[in-house]
Formats: sequence, structure tokens, C-alpha cells
Amino acid sequence: MGIVFVDIGISLDGFVAGPNARPGNPLGDAGTRSHEWMVPLASFHERNGGTGGERNADDAVLRRFFDRTGAYVMGRRMFDEGEIAWPEEAPFRAPVFVLTHRAREPWRRKGGTTFTFVTGGLDEALRRAGEAAGGKDVLVAGGADVVRQALRAGAVEELNVHVAPLLLGAGVRLFENLSGLGAKLEPGPVQASPRVTHLSFRVRR
Ligand SMILES: NC(=O)c1ccc[n+]([C@@H]2O[C@H](COP(=O)([O-])OP(=O)(O)OC[C@H]3O[C@@H](n4cnc5c(N)ncnc54)[C@H](OP(=O)(O)O)[C@@H]3O)[C@@H](O)[C@H]2O)c1
Repeated sequence: MGIVFVDIGISLDGFVAGPNARPGNPLGDAGTRSHEWMVPLASFHERNGGTGGERNADDAVLRRFFDRTGAYVMGRRMFDEGEIAWPEEAPFRAPVFVLTHRAREPWRRKGGTTFTFVTGGLDEALRRAGEAAGGKDVLVAGGADVVRQALRAGAVEELNVHVAPLLLGAGVRLFENLSGLGAKLEPGPVQASPRVTHLSFRVRR
């Protein structure tokens, strides 16, 4: 059995998306800059059907992320932005469970990604993702609302945050409305490059 983990990019001031995030403006105003560190990397190229790219310490972080993830859980707002932005071969290449109150038939994409819409809540999404993950880990991919629910539920065993050297100033904040959480974070190694700082924590109750 794998674990449930969070792995998400944030600006230095704690936003996972800038203002005005919506389909057609994914990650909000300037928000895509928090993902720029990935774009030159070999594992990013490969995942998007290309070749070449840099093989360095950031690449190793991203490659491990892809390798370990057997299934994804995400919120409907994250999905809505990606539905029109992701290529036909969506980058997940694994089962994706979308939390929503709007029932919909599964959406199969080329390359192994199937989006399944779950109306039964977080526990059901995590259970189905765990069953579909083939022994690998389950990623709670975002957005902020779903990550916070998973933290509040005590479902997250590992929290990875990729901090971009960027001040968005406003937008979708990740860490808020978490009072009384009662979780202890055990820091793992910090890895930094000029483009991004990778933080990793074990989450203990
Ligand atoms: N920086 C990063 O690495 C990163 C990663 C992921 C996402 N993002 C960004 O985060 C933003 C979205 O985050 P968000 O917090 O606004 O929204 P979100 O977490 O993506 O989605 C929230 C929505 O999911 C549905 N939902 C959540 N919990 C549910 C439950 N228990 N049962 C049923 N439905 C549930 C609801 O949609 P219904 O309306 O269907 O009820 C809710 O409005 C986007 O801009 C996205 O680009 C950034």
C-alpha cells in the first residue's frame, strides 16, 4: 500500500494561484510563474511527450513525483481550469478522481488518464484512488480547498511544498482556516536551486 501525500507549488507568500483564476486563466494572474521551474526539466519534457531537457537535482525531484504517484485526487475548480488547458494526452497518465457535487460520466484521455467524478466526498475519493493506485502513492493534487480538507481529515502522511521565488500578493491561499489542526510536521531535507526551494514534511497526528 502506498501513502497519501500532498505535493504542490506555492509562491513565497503562500498562494497556489494568483487572482482571477478561472478556466482560460489557469493558476490565475502570474500564477503559472510558480510552475516555471519544471518547464526546462527532462522529466517534464518526457511527461509531455517530448525529449531533451535538463537532468539536475530539480529534475530528480519531479521524476520521483511522477514515478511514485499511482492515482490523483483533485477538486473541481482545479479540474475545470485543466479541462481546457491540458493537452489531449493529459500529463497524469493515471486515474484521477475529481471531487465535485456535479455528477458526470468518466472522461478518458489518451495516454492513460481517466477523470472520474466523485460526488460522495473526500473519503470516497481517497478510497477509490487507493484502490486504483496499484500499490503506489495517492497524490492529493489540489486545489487549496481539497488539500485543506485532506489535512483536516488527517489523511495526509507527507506534505511537499515547492516554494517559488515569487510574490503573488493575492489569489488562492493554501494555508488558511486550519486552526485546531493538531498536526505535527517533521521536516525532511530541504533542497534548493535558483528556481525553487523544495520542502518536505512527514505529517504526524
Ligand atoms: N500551485 C499548484 O501546484 C496548484 C495545484 C493545484 C491547483 N492549483 C490551483 O488551485 C485553484 C483551485 O483551488 P480551489 O481551492 O479554489 O478549488 P479546488 O480545491 O480545486 O476545488 C474546489 C471544488 O471542488 C469540489 N469539492 C471539494 N470538496 C468536495 C467534497 N468534499 N465533495 C464534493 N465536492 C467537493 C467543489 O466543487 P463543486 O462546485 O462541484 O461542488 C469545490 O468548489 C486553481 O486556480 C488551480 O489552478 C494550484
